[in-house]
Amino acid sequence: MILIDGKKAAAELRAELKEEVAELKSKHNKVPGLTVILIGDLTPSQIYVRNKEKSANEVGLKSEVIKYADSVEEKTVLEKIQELNSDETVSGILVQLPLPKHIDKQKVIEAIDPSKDVDGFHPMNVGNLSSGYESSIPCTPLGCYLLIKKFESNLNGKKAVVVGRSNLNGKPMTQLLLKENCTVTITHSKTKDLKAECLEADIIVAAVGIPELVRGDWVKKDAIVIDVGINKTDKGIVGDVHFEEVSKNAKALTPVPGGVGPMTIACLLKNTIDCFKRSQI
Ligand code: GUN
Repeated sequence: MILIDGKKAAAELRAELKEEVAELKSKHNKVPGLTVILIGDLTPSQIYVRNKEKSANEVGLKSEVIKYADSVEEKTVLEKIQELNSDETVSGILVQLPLPKHIDKQKVIEAIDPSKDVDGFHPMNVGNLSSGYESSIPCTPLGCYLLIKKFESNLNGKKAVVVGRSNLNGKPMTQLLLKENCTVTITHSKTKDLKAECLEADIIVAAVGIPELVRGDWVKKDAIVIDVGINKTDKGIVGDVHFEEVSKNAKALTPVPGGVGPMTIACLLKNTIDCFKRSQI
């Protein structure tokens, strides 16, 4: 079994992006800017945002974090987004999720200018991705896609099973695999026989948020398995894949941590740079 090293792949991608930022700086005399809005004091969100800021600085992006208390009014956030939409120094805007209950997530997502939507959550980007047009692509599925492609460049006709149908992961992942000519099955909590579906797969992407759901006997020999899960359990952080069991069967597997996670952040930087480049045309 080959361990797909997301940490290494992300470091390589960041190094490429750093060079690209330096080139853009000398060409345009400015650098792409990422602004993250963080609402409330949820610890995981704070950690994610800190890591995003650190990585953005490392590749030479202009980076800013705007913090609000949990009690902030929706209107204040929407007004700030409008301000950022018309700020030329801001190439990408990300509002860290989850949001407090009194703030309408969809309203916030739709307030972001689609050309600055580095998460790829705006309906315009969702539609463009599913129609095969240029768009921002959500960072986690984009990271999974790049890991899969790095390992196996030709996915023509492969059978892929995506476990989970979220807007964040499952659905955009499906679009990316379809574009690569995979035959894709999306499975979810109401799927009749998940094990049987997974046993058909050349590629499994598990993004369902259930600790160690995918077991060793669910995986065909020679399958590529990508684990998007980050689940807190009594024995620490585990993925959606039973690592020990699946590592005995799969051809290649991503670890948790050190698999998809680092690629997600590197892809956010890539999306910020891509938004900048599109804005300069
Ligand atoms: N919270 C957890 N993952 C994400 C993500 O990809 N984007 C945003 N905005 N918030 C998140």
